[in-house]
Amino acid sequence: MSARSTGMQPAAPGGIAMGPRDEKLVPYASQRVAYWYFVSALALFVLQIVVGLWLAISYAFTIPQSVVDVLPFGMTRAMHTNLLVLWMLLGFMGGAYYLVPEEAEREIYSVKLAYFQLIVFLVTGVAALVGFTFGWTQGKPLLEIPTPLDFIVVVGALIFLFNVAMTVIKGKKTAILGMLLGGLTFLALLYLFGMPFYRNLSIDWFYWWWVVHLWVEGAWELVTAAILAFVLIKITGVDRRVVEKYLYLETALFLFTGLAGTGHHYYWIGAPSTWLWIGGIFSAMEVLPIIAMVVDTFLTQRRHGVVIKEKVVWMFALGTAIGHLVGAGVFGFAHTLPQINYYTHGSQITSSHGHLAFFGAYGLLNLTMFWYAVPRLRGVSRFKASLATWGFWIMCLSILGIGIAMGIAGVIQTYVERVMGESFMTAQGYMQLWFKVVLFFGVFMLLGVIVTFWYMMTAKQTNEER
Ligand code: HEM
Ligand code: HEM
Ligand SMILES: [Fe+2]
Repeated sequence: MSARSTGMQPAAPGGIAMGPRDEKLVPYASQRVAYWYFVSALALFVLQIVVGLWLAISYAFTIPQSVVDVLPFGMTRAMHTNLLVLWMLLGFMGGAYYLVPEEAEREIYSVKLAYFQLIVFLVTGVAALVGFTFGWTQGKPLLEIPTPLDFIVVVGALIFLFNVAMTVIKGKKTAILGMLLGGLTFLALLYLFGMPFYRNLSIDWFYWWWVVHLWVEGAWELVTAAILAFVLIKITGVDRRVVEKYLYLETALFLFTGLAGTGHHYYWIGAPSTWLWIGGIFSAMEVLPIIAMVVDTFLTQRRHGVVIKEKVVWMFALGTAIGHLVGAGVFGFAHTLPQINYYTHGSQITSSHGHLAFFGAYGLLNLTMFWYAVPRLRGVSRFKASLATWGFWIMCLSILGIGIAMGIAGVIQTYVERVMGESFMTAQGYMQLWFKVVLFFGVFMLLGVIVTFWYMMTAKQTNEER
């Protein structure tokens, strides 16, 4: 019998192979597309962290110019952040391809298109990384990839949206699917605003934030709500209507506060001063839906007294809710009022929040979905939680260490540079120690990610609870 007819994947080196499909675990054959999205995402995540270590080294030590010439900070920073965006988008897409068939109760419209689209994104990603080494960049932080590559991304995104939409149109419609499709469409539309270059820099930044802020504090929240709702319904067995009711409420609040909250980026770019008020008030309110989400996640379990069998997935789901609260809620709120942001703007305090929020909210969200789907795709229904738990705590404590150390560096920077009025480099001298701490935790972060990736790909079937 050939590998194809048994549904087996040929074994890949390093044990990264799917194994035969168990129809009870993975009801639709086309869900298996998601596996390659997840594997690619995790590999890029490892690469992102490796580059992150180099960034920390650049701050912690004085590097000889000859090395800086080869690996300049600007280039490697662009790699770190673009790898971040790419792996997270691939994670969301994989998540969508995994959940859509189960929700719509039919196979994905076109599996071929789904694979083609993955290749399009990966090739574009590699081209972008190689391009950065030759200085081929658009220069907008997080969205550095040059316009010709942007067009390829748009084509990839259109194929993705078409494929997901056709599946939904032809299948069953649920609130989760509506939310997911809405979020993904919003996400893709916003990307277009970052593409043109406006000669007036204030206007250029104005629209740049439409992508950066409205992604993480708008569109991605919708996608997150849909993915989290799907996973929570599956692992808690709580009635769909209960989860969906809160989904609507929280999402409405997210959109209401998040849209106007964009103003917290318009304080110092030359936009009218009314944004100081709008941004300050609405972005401070953004914490409310985040708190609601955390409370709701706890209540979901308490209200119904459900015993959760999938401990690993539940741990990551709880981590997402708490990470969201700490990284986005607490650390975001800390510098969102104009009176404070006046001093902290663009300092390491921003970077500290960026790390805690991105990992806490979207890193853990993606890993929640990966931990739900990947063992199933590998034909594993129960596995030992131990190494997954280790991975979780190593990653969470390391990112907390990184965030706190960057935060302290940021307070020093703010004080020395903006209160005392000393030069940029004087402040950097005082910050170096704290970047050595960032580097220390960074090494553990890499370890946590490798343990997680490795165990997710190799965890064996046991009779113990997972
Ligand atoms: C999960 C959601 C969030 C993520 C992933 C996130 C991520 C980020 C990142 C990466 C930046 C830096 C952008 C740059 O300058 O290059 C940033 C800036 C900022 N974020 Fe967030 N954020 C989130 C939610 C929030 C929330 C809810 C608030 C307010 C309550 C907030 C307040 C801010 C502020 C004020 C800045 C600008 C800092 C400055 O002036 O330098 N963020 N965020
Ligand atoms: C080994 C672990 C890591 C280290 C040592 C590290 C280090 C750094 C450094 C030094 C910067 C440059 C900050 C600047 O421009 O001054 C940076 C930027 C950034 N990193 Fe990391 N990073 C790590 C992991 C991560 C992870 C896991 C995430 C998210 C999931 C992340 C997200 C970001 C973001 C969003 C920025 C841009 C921040 C901003 O615009 O202010 N990094 N990182
Ligand atoms: Fe924002």
